[in-house]
Amino acid sequence: MRYFIGNWKMFGVPKSIYILNKINSFHTRDKNRNKYRVIITPPYTLIETFAKNFNSKKVLIGAQNCYQKNQFSSDTSAISPFMLKSVGAKFTLVGHSDNRAEGDTNEILKSKVTFALKNNLKVVFCIGENKKEKKNNKTLVVLNKQISKVLNKKFHRNKIIVAYEPIWSIGTGKIPKKNELKKTIIHIKKILKKILKKSPPVLYGGSVDNNNIREFKEIKEIDGFLIGGASKNPKKFIDIIRNYYR
Ligand code: PGA
Repeated sequence: MRYFIGNWKMFGVPKSIYILNKINSFHTRDKNRNKYRVIITPPYTLIETFAKNFNSKKVLIGAQNCYQKNQFSSDTSAISPFMLKSVGAKFTLVGHSDNRAEGDTNEILKSKVTFALKNNLKVVFCIGENKKEKKNNKTLVVLNKQISKVLNKKFHRNKIIVAYEPIWSIGTGKIPKKNELKKTIIHIKKILKKILKKSPPVLYGGSVDNNNIREFKEIKEIDGFLIGGASKNPKKFIDIIRNYYR
């Protein structure tokens, strides 16, 4: 199974549902539709209406983040996994570099994963090194730490997807070299296998578009993609899927 996840970030109003309609009608007619799953993570404001319209179809709705507590609390502006589940989210991203930059530590991320799973949300756990770490050849050490400080054997691997997103690649148009990326993905799967017995799916994210997808598809170890910028444009998002299977 492959995954194409569209992370909308701070984008979208109710009428943006037309984007999901287009993706859904493409999916319904696509002969490859049983080979992959589409998940969209709109902002919190749109989860409920989108989930009502699409969860019974083939486009699944997730959140971009969740708070590190279970249900209700007195933390202003926080949204818990319980609340997300109650409006129809099926997934949540955890550990996106935007949120790590805002202060999400490994300890916080561990609570987020724990409470998300407890509320039956599947977790897309994001990891990735920054430019300096890459330059200093620290990529594998960094990834190892990000994974082992947060995931543990009590988490069920069927409920987790890992997304490798090098920070220097997000929104920059820069992508990793093919050989390097292949090695990194294999390394990530090795670490995950040690912790979870078998590796969950590992996705790539960072400047994926309808053109460079042709390079990524040659790396069979990549189980799917987390797509930011290009997911806001239905044609580009659909072309990513089309070109992947071409
Ligand atoms: P990008 O974002 O595709 O715009 O680089 C990816 C992400 O941040 O998930």
